[in-house]
Amino acid sequence: MVKCILEIQNLSVEVSGKRILNNVNLQIPEGEVHVLFGPNGSGKSSLIMALLGFPAYKIVSGRIIFKGIDITSLPTNERVKMGISVAFQNPPVIRGVKLGRILSYLMPDENKIGELLVKVKFPQSFLERDINLGFSGGEIKKSEILQVLAQNGDFIVLDEPDSGVDVENLRILGTIINDALHGRSALIITHLGVILQYINANMAHVLMNGTIVCSGSPVKILGQILNEGYAWCEKCPQVKTMRCEL
Ligand SMILES: Nc1ncnc2c1ncn2[C@@H]1O[C@H](COP(=O)(O)OP(=O)(O)OP(=O)(O)O)[C@@H](O)[C@H]1O
Ligand SMILES: [Mg+2]
Repeated sequence: MVKCILEIQNLSVEVSGKRILNNVNLQIPEGEVHVLFGPNGSGKSSLIMALLGFPAYKIVSGRIIFKGIDITSLPTNERVKMGISVAFQNPPVIRGVKLGRILSYLMPDENKIGELLVKVKFPQSFLERDINLGFSGGEIKKSEILQVLAQNGDFIVLDEPDSGVDVENLRILGTIINDALHGRSALIITHLGVILQYINANMAHVLMNGTIVCSGSPVKILGQILNEGYAWCEKCPQVKTMRCEL
């Protein structure tokens, strides 16, 4: 049996006293790419926030095991150092911090930064701009992907990397994400699955009302959601996901 890079066990999370995640169980074997679908407000981004350990996302029960270590109580910076890299759905504007500064910190080799910029078709001038300040929606997505690539983590999380991205940039981002994921583990949140044209995913899960209700083939599940809506997921045949050990 392969090893898990991430195992989420019976995780329940509250924000401001409101239950957002209920008994979430998720296993991602090393080297696999998993997809997370779910309606708006079902808790997908909150699951990522809890994975990163943001204090507003209070874990009321359950555990998060990463690379065989229980990280449930670790601070966010320790989790990131262990190799969790996240491209956020709605990253903040960071005034006073240039994109180039954070990229150099994450990836000291300037030539490699130059190569990444060429790949995502970002002009050098973006390095001199405050992070996300005045960036268009698609540019914010590119900036997030750039930072994740520069971080070079072992576990890559992309929260809606394809939303608001035009077809040409989707091809560019999809291709470099696919290259970057080679041999790595990842969790990708996507609504319409357009990014899946470029990325081979091993497994998909559906989160509804804070609980994973369905797991299985990404193509099959996406097809059912597009044809029958999320209502199908509540009655979908659950696939047993215990496929890896710690
Ligand atoms: N910091 C917060 N404060 C208050 N409510 C929150 C907070 N974070 C999440 N929520 C609530 O938790 C629920 C789940 O939100 P979340 O962002 O995780 O959904 P999502 O599945 O990512 O949705 P979408 O597909 O729209 O991105 C929503 O009702 C949201 O308003
Ligand atoms: Mg979200």
